[in-house]
Amino acid sequence: MNNFEYCCPTHVVFGKGSISKLRELIPQDKKVLMIYGGGSIKKNGVYEQVKSALDGYNLLEFGGIEPNPKYETCMKAVEIVKNEGVDFLLSVGGGSTLDGTKFISLASCYDGDDAYDAIMIREEHPDRVIPIGDVITLPATGSEMNDGAVISRLATDEKLPFHDSRVYPKFSIIDPEVTFSLPVKQTVNGIVDTFVHTMEQYCTYDVNSPLQDDWALGILRTLIKEAPKVLANPCDYDARANIFWCATCGLNYWISLGVVQDWATHMIGHELTAFYGIDHGQSLAIVEPRLLKNQKVAKAQKLAKLAREVFGVNESVDLKAADIAIDKIEEFFNSIGMKTKLSDYGIDAAEAAQKVRDRFRVRGTKIGEKCQIDADVTYDILINC
Ligand code: NZQ
Ligand code: ZN
Repeated sequence: MNNFEYCCPTHVVFGKGSISKLRELIPQDKKVLMIYGGGSIKKNGVYEQVKSALDGYNLLEFGGIEPNPKYETCMKAVEIVKNEGVDFLLSVGGGSTLDGTKFISLASCYDGDDAYDAIMIREEHPDRVIPIGDVITLPATGSEMNDGAVISRLATDEKLPFHDSRVYPKFSIIDPEVTFSLPVKQTVNGIVDTFVHTMEQYCTYDVNSPLQDDWALGILRTLIKEAPKVLANPCDYDARANIFWCATCGLNYWISLGVVQDWATHMIGHELTAFYGIDHGQSLAIVEPRLLKNQKVAKAQKLAKLAREVFGVNESVDLKAADIAIDKIEEFFNSIGMKTKLSDYGIDAAEAAQKVRDRFRVRGTKIGEKCQIDADVTYDILINC
């Protein structure tokens, strides 16, 4: 196992009725900006629960953070934070709202001209941040228990990630009941995102980390078992709770401790979202099977273990078992209603492959666990998508 350090300062409050605990989590003297998305929280009762929990607080609001949160929108919230002297940010929504809030936290403390360029490109982060708490409403990103965020810039069709340990949420309220209202498409996106997060951290090469492997494979097994239940009955509390905890544990870094990570599916998927606007989960479901086929030999041992321990495959030859695992993963995605081809979204594979290759060439991109996926390998992967 490789060396590692781990410190997650997030106070997790999990379970039904948890939103009422907000009062215990935010000091009463704070000037709070509640940040939300396109309005789902006003339809499913979450907005009312938050307002009533924070009755009497000095509470401002900013709505309109879109899926794949945009820099341009976040900067409007930054103006409010600066003008009003806000000193606590409360994100109420999915991963996009929380990621946007993480960016707002940093950008509100930055005084230069172009906060995107400073934070996302030059990685010159300000020396302080505004503290964050959240009510997370969509199981997918794990953003509620990690220090990452992904921000898009409309002006340049870019979508890039950043990390900063100071934007770990101070607390995250995870109430599975709030996910009863999720559209099927978002439930499925979240399951696929969680599946692929797990793969990015598990499916590289062995460094003798059996506990992390078992945690990762346990997440995959749980997703496969619980997914049909939430699709059949969206108000199945136990299944929703299990899916949510899988999503949180899929990217709270536990399964990545001391192991080698990949993340190439995500980096290629982000480009598909930036160019074509498809959802994050959709982009991953397209790239993952073809990337795994392309990298099958390097990943054979882990894929074979997955085939045997998750899908119960009885095949002793690793490369053959790896092939079966990849097919089973795509079958699982399809079985929950997720499409896995670019053509399913009317996107021309040759055009997409060329656009992403050109961009990766300019950036000198090399991704994957051994930096083995460059612009040309990315082209080979996408042309088969
Ligand atoms: O905007 P509202 O009206 O709230 O509606 C949202 C949005 O339309 C809706 N929704 C959320 N919770 C709901 C709900 N509708 C009904 N009931 C609820 N309880 O769902 C739609 C999608 O929301 P969004 O926040 O965009 O989804 P998700 O949580 O999947 O976040 C996706 C973003 O996270 C990034 C992605 O790249 C993408 O930008 N990621 C962030 C990561 C991180 N911070 O660590 C890692 C991930 O790999 C991912 O890249
Ligand atoms: Zn993801």
